[in-house]
Amino acid sequence: NLEEHAGIWNKENVRSTLPLREVDSHKGTYGTGLLIAGSPDMPGATMLAGLGAMRSGAGKLVIGTEPEVISIIVQRLPEATYESKALERIAKGFLELDSFRAIAIGPGIIPNDLTEKAIQKILAGKVPVILDAGALSKRDYEGRQAPTILTPHPLEFSRVTGIKVKELQQNRMHYARLCSKKLGAAIVLKGKETVVAFPDGDTWINPTGNSALAKGGTGDTLTGMLLGMLCIHEDWKHAVLNSVYLHGACADAWVEKNSAHTLLAHELTELLPQVWKEFE
Ligand code: APR
Ligand code: MG
Repeated sequence: NLEEHAGIWNKENVRSTLPLREVDSHKGTYGTGLLIAGSPDMPGATMLAGLGAMRSGAGKLVIGTEPEVISIIVQRLPEATYESKALERIAKGFLELDSFRAIAIGPGIIPNDLTEKAIQKILAGKVPVILDAGALSKRDYEGRQAPTILTPHPLEFSRVTGIKVKELQQNRMHYARLCSKKLGAAIVLKGKETVVAFPDGDTWINPTGNSALAKGGTGDTLTGMLLGMLCIHEDWKHAVLNSVYLHGACADAWVEKNSAHTLLAHELTELLPQVWKEFE
């Protein structure tokens, strides 16, 4: 069925679309990413996503989170700056959002009224947005004037769309494409052979990654990488595809020398520098 065709985003695609760092660039060239992540019981997600973002080229990173979280992670991510009580301040309209190159929200946050209010404020703006984990809910993105990217694993996809997990997993490409068009947002349907579907119907399958990624935290790393990549790419679709590809390629590099049982999510961002270099 031609309609169901999807390409495989391959090594050559990555090589020809990954931007180089310009010799005369400065941090402003690459823009500032805003990461809204973490709560007192889930501070680690903030760090994993923060590391992913700063390792993926963003010029600057602002992390919006809770005060407890800042004191835990600042020592391991001194390169970022922090916005305390971000959800509350965004919900009240106290935080200027237009100046960010891209915004990612979700890792380690709790889906409640405050979160939803903050998300509505963010979606009303014209900045590209990545929604993950606690930021994924039933809504649509039709009227948005900037790219919206959803990064659900199958259970989250099911929660957001009402499609049963078993049915989804048997027709991953079909449902990713269908829902992307319907919701007006790109969908990164995670799991083995992650499907990336764009609202214009363009659909790709990612060939990298392995079961070493089947461990808590790796999704948070991907969200951060997406944020960083959006900051440096001219074409947002390339940013999404290259993030998913390199995230998987880091896991592939891991299993060349180590057991698939042993990967920790933050080690993906330690592998990223060498893995990325192979594509320059
Ligand atoms: N092969 C290839 N890639 C895989 C595989 C596999 N067998 N298993 C998982 N992955 C990849 C996915 O494609 C995705 O990129 O690992 C990543 C996992 O992301 P998530 O499922 O979002 O996991 P994560 O968020 O890190 O941890 C679990 O999600 O359910 C929520 O809030 C819950 O904190 C929990 C979190
Ligand atoms: Mg997740």
